[in-house]
Amino acid sequence: MTLAIRTTDLTKDYAVGFWRKRPYRALDQLSLDVGTGDVFGFLGPNGAGKTTTLKLLMQLTFPTRGRAEILGRPVGDVDVKRRIGYLPEHPYFYDYLTAEELLGGFAGMFGYRGAERARRVGTLLDEVGIGPERRLALRKFSKGMIQRVGLAQALINDPEVVFLDEPMSGLDPLGRREVRRLILRLRDQGRTVFFSSHILADAEALCSRVAILVGGRLRTVGSLSDITAFHVRGWELVVSGVEEPVLMRMGLMQRTTRIGEERYAIELPIDEPPDKVLSDLTVTGARLVSLNPIRDTLEDFFVRQVSGVDPPESRVKG
Ligand SMILES: Nc1ncnc2c1ncn2[C@@H]1O[C@H](COP(=O)(O)OP(=O)(O)OP(=O)(O)O)[C@@H](O)[C@H]1O
Ligand SMILES: [Mg+2]
Repeated sequence: MTLAIRTTDLTKDYAVGFWRKRPYRALDQLSLDVGTGDVFGFLGPNGAGKTTTLKLLMQLTFPTRGRAEILGRPVGDVDVKRRIGYLPEHPYFYDYLTAEELLGGFAGMFGYRGAERARRVGTLLDEVGIGPERRLALRKFSKGMIQRVGLAQALINDPEVVFLDEPMSGLDPLGRREVRRLILRLRDQGRTVFFSSHILADAEALCSRVAILVGGRLRTVGSLSDITAFHVRGWELVVSGVEEPVLMRMGLMQRTTRIGEERYAIELPIDEPPDKVLSDLTVTGARLVSLNPIRDTLEDFFVRQVSGVDPPESRVKG
């Protein structure tokens, strides 16, 4: 597998404190491989070190220890810089320019000229859902619209690897859906997308692999199915046309929630296959509404990983 991104023991200490500076470990020995063509979700709660990692990869800050490579070359390699795109966490642009002028400027830096440049800018603005307002100064743009312009900017040079720091932040549900589609389109074109998020539903909808970072440390990495598959905990059986005395007689009341008129959700442990309960209930006239495995969502997993993490003081060294 060709690697799009590799970090080895990547570590970053920031100097904190007013009089006496002490190192604060924002990222602790991150070793991570991301294959080409992956949509990779870099997940973690606030302060986990996601932005720090992206800044290290973009050389906006420098590691205390360790190293990082993109497309097999050390970060900072000029050829590599041409082949990547980056959406910062809080994109900020000179706001007297229009969206069109701004992107035209970026396209010019990457060598696009004349009609080709105008076409490139137009297509990208269409893709991120900026309409006629592309001719307005950016200071009149809402946060979500700036976010979209930021995304277009990250894609201006047709990058092979795209780094997005919280791409969905500030977007309304429609905007989120559009960005999800855009990311899937990038994937279909064979690009690698590395994005940070704490919106787990987005990761669930998009990622081939995820890493979970907590307190500066990598907690887990793998495909989503690997991670959630470990946690099938039981079954939820929803039935209708059943009365309480029947459930009581079958000893199911403890595990049952009434969700409507003669409609109940029954939780069964994993070692108690639902077939038997279902057939016993069916004999009494009950009908099956749905049967679902109960398993941890990424959200549950994430919450569990966050609890039991070292307190922030322990990240101050010395
Ligand atoms: N320039 C800095 N100086 C000192 N500490 C910093 C600096 N930048 C980040 N930190 C600290 O490093 C830790 C990691 O921050 P980082 O911004 O990488 O987290 P994050 O995972 O991106 O969080 P969020 O989800 O809030 O964006 C935090 O505790 C933060 O306070
Ligand atoms: Mg961040």
